[in-house]
Amino acid sequence: MPKDPAQTALAEHVEGGGFHGPAHVAIIMDGNGRWATQRGRPRLFGHHAGARRVREVVEACPRLGIRYLTIFAFSTENWKRTQVEVAGLMSLFRRYITREMRELVEQNVRVRFIGDRVRLDPKLIAMMDELEALTEANTLVHLTVAINYGGRDEVARATKRLARDVAAGRLDPESVDEETLPRYLDTHVLPDPDLVIRTSGEARISNFLLWQSAYSEYEFIDTLWPDFTPAELERLCRSYGRRDRRFGGVTR
Ligand code: IPE
Ligand code: IPE
Ligand code: MG
Repeated sequence: MPKDPAQTALAEHVEGGGFHGPAHVAIIMDGNGRWATQRGRPRLFGHHAGARRVREVVEACPRLGIRYLTIFAFSTENWKRTQVEVAGLMSLFRRYITREMRELVEQNVRVRFIGDRVRLDPKLIAMMDELEALTEANTLVHLTVAINYGGRDEVARATKRLARDVAAGRLDPESVDEETLPRYLDTHVLPDPDLVIRTSGEARISNFLLWQSAYSEYEFIDTLWPDFTPAELERLCRSYGRRDRRFGGVTR
């Protein structure tokens, strides 16, 4: 069966490198505010610095064998921040899309957005749609950006759609099992994350990928997101390769 050449090259590269890293890495990019405060600058300065780190992390994925990268950019709880910070983040997302669009297309990166779009500005939504459409045929890395995303909100929205299908007679409630719900989640086309990384020293999930990370490996590291480097990502991927994922069973 002829395979996607990008995937084949990637697999050969990783096998050649002799380590089995995570195929799907999810990152809670935390610590931008503290990074800025440490420098006596406004929080938004940290968000801008943080956004600039994303490109090199995406670029590092192919050589590390990472096919799926999912990044947490804005949570359903982040609306609690000041209007200045929220507006600044929203304009940063628009700037990021404009600035990175060409590069992402050229680098064969497929971009998707997860989260509830209803609260987002229509102009931003249009740009998100455009970037998804422009990169639709790309295959090397699947980059998923979580904006206005919350795990509980995602499960609630999924349940609503599932209930509608039951009410309309499209779904037999007796058939519902743990394979059914993920088909209604925003992440329905993605595999579960193998490795979830959180920067900035906080050891909590903060409502990220609650359903999907049931068996993910976790890394909580002290680095603030604007200081995160591909070298650190590589170190975490190698450490992941040495872990014994048992999924409740016995492997040795
Ligand atoms: C993460 O950095 C980015 C977003 C939540 C948007 P923070 O802004 O949470 O940075 P800290 O945690 O205050 O340092
Ligand atoms: C999680 O970070 C959300 C993102 C990284 C986008 P927060 O900074 O919002 O999480 P808490 O408030 O420390 O739990
Ligand atoms: Mg934070």
